[in-house]
Amino acid sequence: MVKIGYIVGSLAADSLNRKLAGVLVAQAPERVQMVEVPMAELPLYDRHLDDDFPQAMADFKAQVADVDGLVVVTPEHNQSYPAPVKNAIDILTRGGSSELKGLKMGLVGASPSRFGTINSQAQLRQFLPTQGVHLMGSPTLAVSVGKDTFDDDGGADPTTTSRAKKYMEAFASFVEA
Ligand code: FNR
Repeated sequence: MVKIGYIVGSLAADSLNRKLAGVLVAQAPERVQMVEVPMAELPLYDRHLDDDFPQAMADFKAQVADVDGLVVVTPEHNQSYPAPVKNAIDILTRGGSSELKGLKMGLVGASPSRFGTINSQAQLRQFLPTQGVHLMGSPTLAVSVGKDTFDDDGGADPTTTSRAKKYMEAFASFVEA
């Protein structure tokens, strides 16, 4: 069994990225256990917290340490990744250890724009390797969301479903290698 965690970079209740995460969970191979690592309640990181690391941050780090790979499912805000994602990443590098070192990660996202979240992903791709992260190169998954991309039952259109399935098969193999 491979344990794959995922974080959802949007705090919105009706988040497109949470919908995409649901499709990834549904399409993951049977040998994969998918677990959400919640980050919505994380306090904002401040370096003064290093002396007495908050429990919520320590718990978040422990949950990331417990997975074999991590998928970041994130929106794009102003052609970059949103603040909660940066906060989560910074927390993972502090508190006496860095869970990013050697961590296998995947980047995916959904947005209504034509190119999905490619700018958001490109910027994460630029610096995560400097922290010891091993990023999966391909396939990529940046979903340009239209009115029929996601349905009300947690499903997606055939193209998105097929891309999500291929992505999760590839990520599981990447984590196992
Ligand atoms: C956006 N959105 C957006 N989309 C995009 O593809 N490129 C962008 O640069 C931006 N910029 C941006 C800035 C801000 C402040 C907001 C609030 C939104 C639109 C965004 O993709 C859309 O709101 C998605 O629905 C966000 O994903 P969630 O929150 O639904 O998962």
